[in-house]
Amino acid sequence: MIFNLGSINSDLVYGLPHFPAPGETLSAINHRRGLGGKGANQSIALARAGATVTHIGAVGPDGAWMTDQLRCAGVECDHIQQLDCASGHAVIYVDPHGENSIVIYPGANVALRDNDVMVALAQAGPDDILVLQNETSALLSAARAAHAKGMFIAYSAAPFDAQAVRDILPYLSLLLCNEGEARQLSQALGLEVSAIPVKHLVITKGAKGAVWLDPAADPITVPSFKVIPVDTTGAGDTFAGYLVAGLSEGKSPANAMHLASAAAALSVTRAGAADAIPTRAEVDAFWAAQPKE
Ligand code: RIB
Repeated sequence: MIFNLGSINSDLVYGLPHFPAPGETLSAINHRRGLGGKGANQSIALARAGATVTHIGAVGPDGAWMTDQLRCAGVECDHIQQLDCASGHAVIYVDPHGENSIVIYPGANVALRDNDVMVALAQAGPDDILVLQNETSALLSAARAAHAKGMFIAYSAAPFDAQAVRDILPYLSLLLCNEGEARQLSQALGLEVSAIPVKHLVITKGAKGAVWLDPAADPITVPSFKVIPVDTTGAGDTFAGYLVAGLSEGKSPANAMHLASAAAALSVTRAGAADAIPTRAEVDAFWAAQPKE
């Protein structure tokens, strides 16, 4: 079983001709609302990959549609609380190249209490996995409890906060970050990236692929797939969810990375965050259609 303590956001997405300069007023080309939040996106990716996932999180009274969408995707939602505050939301700008710029309002995501998470994790055991990102409260207590149970713990260091990573690092089995986050963390710790003290480190590099670093083995590098990007929002979450799902199936790190890379590539060809995450059948078909060496 995979437990994901994660954010649930209403994504308000604006397609723009370019990112606004300070003081500039811009008219959006298009606008839509959809399910997002790094946590919700990762739960959807896990479920669409075929994993059994319980989401631990919170929404406000305005967030029932988001819980419904998670449930419809096959995510177990018994540990999503409805709290008396606004749901988390994100304002997302997407430029014509598919690049994004995101501002989040955490809302209910940071009103989760340690005890809520402990109740959810009470049923977990050493063969289970805990997935975390840096958009909710109760992260450290969740990591400590899962570590004490011997669970595999995967953490996405986003939004990046050096102190948050420093605090949680001793409990992690797998740290996921992008190139910029890896650079910031290495500077904050005063260590080379390859010396960051964690069992497994995965660095995603967008169009340049991804690398799996393990102090005890050679790096594993996977290339990215060539696609025409429409919207890169949630690509990292799709990668993280599919990677953890692949590992939980017993795939080797290299094979799980390839699966994750294919899923992330497909996601950027579509608009939105959770809405853009492909099913396992779509990923398998995409993979099968790739030219073989
Ligand atoms: O990683 C993409 C996500 O970041 C968006 O869905 C947004 O809600 C923010 O959490």
